[in-house]
Amino acid sequence: MLGLKLPTDPFWVKNVVENNLEDVLSDHAYCEQKAASNAISIMVNFPEYPELAKRMAALAREELEHYEMVVEKIQQKGLTLGRERKDEYVNEIRKFIKHDGSRKAILIERLLFAAMIEARSCERFKVLATHISDNELAEFYKELMISEANHYTLFIKWAKEIAKDTNIDVDKRWKEYLEYEASIITQYGKKQEIHG
Ligand SMILES: [Fe+2]
Ligand SMILES: [Fe+2]
Repeated sequence: MLGLKLPTDPFWVKNVVENNLEDVLSDHAYCEQKAASNAISIMVNFPEYPELAKRMAALAREELEHYEMVVEKIQQKGLTLGRERKDEYVNEIRKFIKHDGSRKAILIERLLFAAMIEARSCERFKVLATHISDNELAEFYKELMISEANHYTLFIKWAKEIAKDTNIDVDKRWKEYLEYEASIITQYGKKQEIHG
């Protein structure tokens, strides 16, 4: 359903995540914060779509709730919330955003960029839910996986909605995003980060 070309190797969970839980959970907390910040940025920059703006406001709240849930987990486990780090994967996906064209075209790019991050995050959560040995965390990631799948759907739906009276082919552009993502994801799945 997500259309991702390459799955994450469970090696990442077994050999990287399990041994570096504090780093992964801390990184995860900031992934949720960045998702909230990104939703707010779309909300602020495209006021000509008030329905989308409201939806982004609700999404930002949901992502901040996820942030709180992750921090809570860190505390429950007696771990320490670390500092925010650069997300190299997200920065590489960001390079693919086209910044030229109409406001609609730019908004569609931003929605597809967000859909891409949600799709890969959802896939990573699924791999975590399936392979992590801690049952409580497995349940936690299963729940979050469902949310991120819904967010992916939301962004794709809005990209198509905005594209309605344009000649932008969202399906075609989404395929290009998937191809690009496949070309970079092979370098990842090795580090103690959600997209690492
Ligand atoms: Fe989230
Ligand atoms: Fe999300």
